[in-house]
Amino acid sequence: MKKEWWHGKTAYQIYPKSFYDTNQDGIGDIPGIIEKLDYLKELGVGIVWLSPVYLTPCADQGYDIADYYQIDPMFGTMEDMDCLLEEARKRKIAIVMDLVVNHCSDEHPWFQRACEDPEGEYGNFFYFEKKKDGRLPSNWRSYFGGSVWEPVEGSDWYYLHVFHKKQPDLNWENPKLREKIYEMIQWWLDKGLAGFRLDAIINIKKPLPFRDYPSDRPDGLCDMGAVLADASGIGTFLREMRDRVFRPYQAFSVGEVFNAKEGELADFAGEDGYFSAIFDFRQTIEGKSTDGWYASRIPTPEDYKRCCFQSQREMEGIGFYANIIENHDEPRGVSYYLPQEARTDRGKKLLAALYFMLKGIPFIYQGQEIGMENMEYHSIDEVDDISSKEEYLVCRKAGLSEAKAMEVINQYSRDHARTPFQWSGEEAAGFTKGKPWLRVNPNYKTINLMAQKDDPDSVFSFYKKLIALRQDPQYQETIVYGRVEPIWEEMQGIMAYFRQGNGQRILVAGNFGLYARRIELAGDLGRDSKVLLSNAEEVKMDETGLTLQGLQAVILECI
Ligand code: GLC
Ligand code: CA
Repeated sequence: MKKEWWHGKTAYQIYPKSFYDTNQDGIGDIPGIIEKLDYLKELGVGIVWLSPVYLTPCADQGYDIADYYQIDPMFGTMEDMDCLLEEARKRKIAIVMDLVVNHCSDEHPWFQRACEDPEGEYGNFFYFEKKKDGRLPSNWRSYFGGSVWEPVEGSDWYYLHVFHKKQPDLNWENPKLREKIYEMIQWWLDKGLAGFRLDAIINIKKPLPFRDYPSDRPDGLCDMGAVLADASGIGTFLREMRDRVFRPYQAFSVGEVFNAKEGELADFAGEDGYFSAIFDFRQTIEGKSTDGWYASRIPTPEDYKRCCFQSQREMEGIGFYANIIENHDEPRGVSYYLPQEARTDRGKKLLAALYFMLKGIPFIYQGQEIGMENMEYHSIDEVDDISSKEEYLVCRKAGLSEAKAMEVINQYSRDHARTPFQWSGEEAAGFTKGKPWLRVNPNYKTINLMAQKDDPDSVFSFYKKLIALRQDPQYQETIVYGRVEPIWEEMQGIMAYFRQGNGQRILVAGNFGLYARRIELAGDLGRDSKVLLSNAEEVKMDETGLTLQGLQAVILECI
């Protein structure tokens, strides 16, 4: 496989609004990121992905962009951004931004001009349609609820939005629009940006002409998943984008791709694929129902293991997944994948080791490295996230009581990940000296960076060691390029695999249960086998096997 600069890196996602506030307005900002670059350096991060900081009316927390060439004043200025790029460069940290080009904001000048003349030049940047025989062009359900069609005020036109109505979809079929996007991408890459995370990218290809699909809920609408499954030809756009802008700059690109069809993985993430990597969302999707969150089921450790291994098998010999346990759209990984009794420091390190050592590019979401957990929301009024608000209504319509509906929201809300980073035990977790835009998780007194930084046994120190191991020249080749070979798959509660490199073999094994378990490894372990990392003081092994204590994770070199 051709080696690329990003293969051996560890990536870190920053949600700027909740990272660090320097001007006391309660909103994290770019100067705040600059101030924390040394922290990221110390952690060992090589790539930082910033969630959007562009000009935005903030209907969907910056995923609705009103100008791709401006920084929103709440985050700072373009000078701050330039300074961030420069300071990051000095520290050998590559900065990647979010590329939100399936849609823009309804406050983007393109859309404003388009509404004035839906049949004109800018009208063709979007999708405008009229009703036919009194019916909307299609019965698709927006991701945030309701029809994807919204009337243009004072006319009989409707525009398409697969997300919020303040996020009109851009018409990728129009070559002029595509040119505008490539121009913009180039402008950022010329500034020294290292690449992009491609937001909702799979939505850019719609099955046309618009038509109805079988409805899957009483609202008569149809889930976008089913709609997109019927679309073909996205490759034409993605290949063009790759060749025009990513390739010439050797840019890193990671796609938010939920539903690559069977046999398409190589197109998306192969050596010659559209992207450097795509996120592995198999565990994220596991248990989710098209009926909504209330009908969904949280994956068990067994599900988790099965999903990880399935993804690994599928990608082997093709390319890289970007591996995550959480992001800004998900609950905290430790609160989601770990059973209640396992949500201890030891359990958090277990989950960390198991996902981090898989083949792929590990992404850490801000706060994950200190073991931040879900927040408890008591009323929907405390919640900011638009998808939680919609799902709350879905719950209530399905007949759930307010309390039951809040239980559901507390399982899945996107706001769990969006609470401010817990820097210290000081007021507002040291995130701001003002009033935080979203309430800080009250557990910040115990879970915070200050309390962990100098403690060699903390979750933070464990993440640091994991990253250092990935960087260690003695093991890097195997950890980055070695095959994943699952073992003991049938053993409930145990997740274990080898990383098999050239003449080197690393065992990663973890026990999700609370009691000690033995795994037989006769022939794999020798007297010289070496523990590279463990979340428990003692590692009990001999030449025939390994005894894992409750919630223990072990990484060892088999010699
Ligand atoms: C992606 C983002 C999410 C956003 C949506 C619309 O899924 O991760 O936060 O709401 O796209 O842009
Ligand atoms: Ca601020």
